[in-house]
Amino acid sequence: MKKKGKNMKSEGGAKVINEMTLEFDGISDNESFARVAVAAFVSSLDPTLEEIADIKTAVSEAVTNAIIHGYENICGYGKAGNRRPDPQEIHPGKVRIYCRIQGDVLHIEITDHGKGIDDVEKAMEPLFTTKPELERSGMGFAFMEAFMDELEVTSRPGEGTKVRMLKKLGTDPWIEDED
Ligand SMILES: Nc1ncnc2c1ncn2[C@@H]1O[C@H](COP(=O)(O)OP(=O)(O)O)[C@@H](O)[C@H]1O
Ligand SMILES: [Mg+2]
Repeated sequence: MKKKGKNMKSEGGAKVINEMTLEFDGISDNESFARVAVAAFVSSLDPTLEEIADIKTAVSEAVTNAIIHGYENICGYGKAGNRRPDPQEIHPGKVRIYCRIQGDVLHIEITDHGKGIDDVEKAMEPLFTTKPELERSGMGFAFMEAFMDELEVTSRPGEGTKVRMLKKLGTDPWIEDED
């Protein structure tokens, strides 16, 4: 018999699914908004403080990457300081976050339509960065991998990047999807 997850309400075996989508301009001002919005969305799963911190860190890293690498809007980061972006310097582009809660599992997809990544495998190596001048640590993907249960990155140069992450909340064992 399959065991129910801690927050899993089910009727006739179907898991409760809850989705949300956010789209915002790819500028540094929106990074804290994005991580707080996802944390708030997850609150229905009754996460621990540690789980919230993990999710916020992972979202922050992926959104920052979309902004500074995807759209090259570096204002507000590193040596560019906390200066507010000059409208003339902003490269326009949207970041989209899609979240789905399925039973006690959180799925997150963070998409940009920026410049994309030539070699995803290389980009995901710890300490690899193409912007050393920004004092980036090159650990963004490593943090996403460490704080979430699954990480998948797909990208096309010139078209953009999608980061898919999954995290199981609570202490119940993984349950296979029935579909
Ligand atoms: N959304 C993105 N669009 C384009 N390039 C990206 C994106 N995300 C990551 N990258 C590339 O992957 C590299 C590694 O990312 P990361 O591990 O977060 O380190 P960092 O951001 O500190 O450079 C970046 O330096 C960049 O070249
Ligand atoms: Mg990064």
